[in-house]
Amino acid sequence: MLIKINDQIQCDVSVLINWIKENMGVLYNERNIFALEKRLRNFVDTHSIKTEAELMSFLNTHNVNNEQDLYDLFVNNETFFYREPKFFESLKNEIIPYFVNECKKDHITVWTMACSTGQEAYTTAMIMEELCHSGSKFTYEIRATDISHRAIEQAKSGEYDHLEINRGLTPDQIEKFTYRKGDKFCINNNIKNHMTFEKKNLIRPWMVEQQYDLLICRNLLYYFDDVARSHVVKNAFNTLNNDGLFCLSGSENLFDYQSFFRHAKFYASFNKVTKR
Ligand SMILES: C[S@@+](CC[C@H](N)C(=O)[O-])C[C@H]1O[C@@H](n2cnc3c(N)ncnc32)[C@H](O)[C@@H]1O
Repeated sequence: MLIKINDQIQCDVSVLINWIKENMGVLYNERNIFALEKRLRNFVDTHSIKTEAELMSFLNTHNVNNEQDLYDLFVNNETFFYREPKFFESLKNEIIPYFVNECKKDHITVWTMACSTGQEAYTTAMIMEELCHSGSKFTYEIRATDISHRAIEQAKSGEYDHLEINRGLTPDQIEKFTYRKGDKFCINNNIKNHMTFEKKNLIRPWMVEQQYDLLICRNLLYYFDDVARSHVVKNAFNTLNNDGLFCLSGSENLFDYQSFFRHAKFYASFNKVTKR
């Protein structure tokens, strides 16, 4: 099936679907591609791509800039603060207390693996701050990564507009954790000081440089094909401390990987697993 991008360029949808699967792990269908028509049109304009052959050459030339722009073209960066509040309630009332009280950790390491524009990582940090202020004795660090250049740059800046900051945060939380810069709300430095941000494509080979107590990988794996999902899960297993937890969203599960992980005994246990 062909998609007409503009008067000069039409392109075989299956070529785009294959590129996305091979390079990002994400499974697209034809409907998803047609929803990107406007983005594709802007993309060929921005890159002065005039013919289908030029578009194919752009797709097939593997250099960092090309890939980066293509990732940004195809990603779905939907996210917001306190997305799935049950998860964050569990983080506050069960997961962090489990690390501090049962595992006797005084330093907790977290990796949010597909953090998009940063709201998930900052929500995690806000909860850590609240617990520290209410007397829990631990320090923490959060690594936040995403494939999307555009998303990770915003995450790193910690700057959000009125609409973004009000998606999930209460006025009290906005007051406590942000300051104003013009029409933007900026995350306070005492939170940002605990965090690092970097681009990472999770379907490329991993170096396990550090092991983490908590891996947060929400709303990503259900977009992946089996090969990509398996790659991420097996690498996550090697990246997790023995008593660590791997957390997914409520709509994802690791039933196919029961030889690696067992369900953790938290009340919302369906999306949290620990090593066998
Ligand atoms: C729907 S968002 C989820 C954001 C956040 N985890 C949440 O639950 O709100 C999915 C994110 O996965 C990222 N992503 C897609 N493919 C990826 C890959 N191969 N490696 C790393 N991140 C990827 C996208 O850029 C996007 O920001």
